[in-house]
Amino acid sequence: MTNDSVVPDTPAPADDSFLPGPVLLLGAPGVGKGTQAKLLMAEFGIPQISTGDLLRANIAQGTPLGKAAKSLMDQGQLVSDELVNQMVADRLAQPDVKRGYILDGFPRTLNQAEWLDSVLAVDSATLPVVAISMVVSYDQLLHRITGRRISPAGRIYNVYSNPSAVPGRCDVDGTALVQRSDDSEEVFAERMKTFAAQTAPVIEHYRNQGRFVEVDGDQPVEQVTAEITSALKRLRQTAWKS
Ligand code: AP5
Repeated sequence: MTNDSVVPDTPAPADDSFLPGPVLLLGAPGVGKGTQAKLLMAEFGIPQISTGDLLRANIAQGTPLGKAAKSLMDQGQLVSDELVNQMVADRLAQPDVKRGYILDGFPRTLNQAEWLDSVLAVDSATLPVVAISMVVSYDQLLHRITGRRISPAGRIYNVYSNPSAVPGRCDVDGTALVQRSDDSEEVFAERMKTFAAQTAPVIEHYRNQGRFVEVDGDQPVEQVTAEITSALKRLRQTAWKS
């Protein structure tokens, strides 16, 4: 499988004096990983690698991976580690990851985390991972998930907190906004169970490795970005010294 057709252009960095390296954005469904990844991508000029977006692109293109993933995603279950790791391996082989990248929604199981650790361990030129975990209450997550609308190009809106100027239309290209098929209250509950069982241990894995920070995601978007950016710069200085 190739991801070439779903690799977005990486913008030139607003700040190119800083080498971000690999950054993990961890947290529950709706916590703001995609929103923050896009802002960090613009700030640091490194790509967002969202396994959810890559899987949805495969579904839209009708690839074998997309066919295998669709029903699992619609039930709030995870796609197999083998398929997702291969998809990430393909993406990390692209040349735009040299200065770093933001992994959004990966790793999500301990197997995926151990696979990523092993991939990074063999490349001595790669900086160690910095992990950012965002936290938001269950009720607020549900509010965000049911209010989310997305454009075909992946721009993220929210009917409550970030509405488009014309209801139902993307501000940038005017395309129709849609609700993700897994953004119902029922599937959200399943996604949260999956998160607690399989992804919460991943957060502990990175907490124990150091170079980890927990950020309160229940603040204005810009405030969350500022806290992540400042933590990333601080943790990178620590990484160079250690
Ligand atoms: P994925 O697409 O990764 O979904 P998720 O992790 O559940 O996260 P979301 O995309 O729902 O939320 P987000 O944290 O990005 O929040 P956002 O910024 O959009 O995965 C979907 C499925 O794919 C999985 O269930 C699984 O089946 C499969 N999959 C993916 N990765 C996998 C993996 N590694 N292994 C196996 N399977 C995998 O924000 C949400 C809303 O809140 C938006 O409307 C936004 O505008 C709003 N918002 C954001 N920040 C704020 C704020 N600070 N204040 C107010 N509103 C805000």
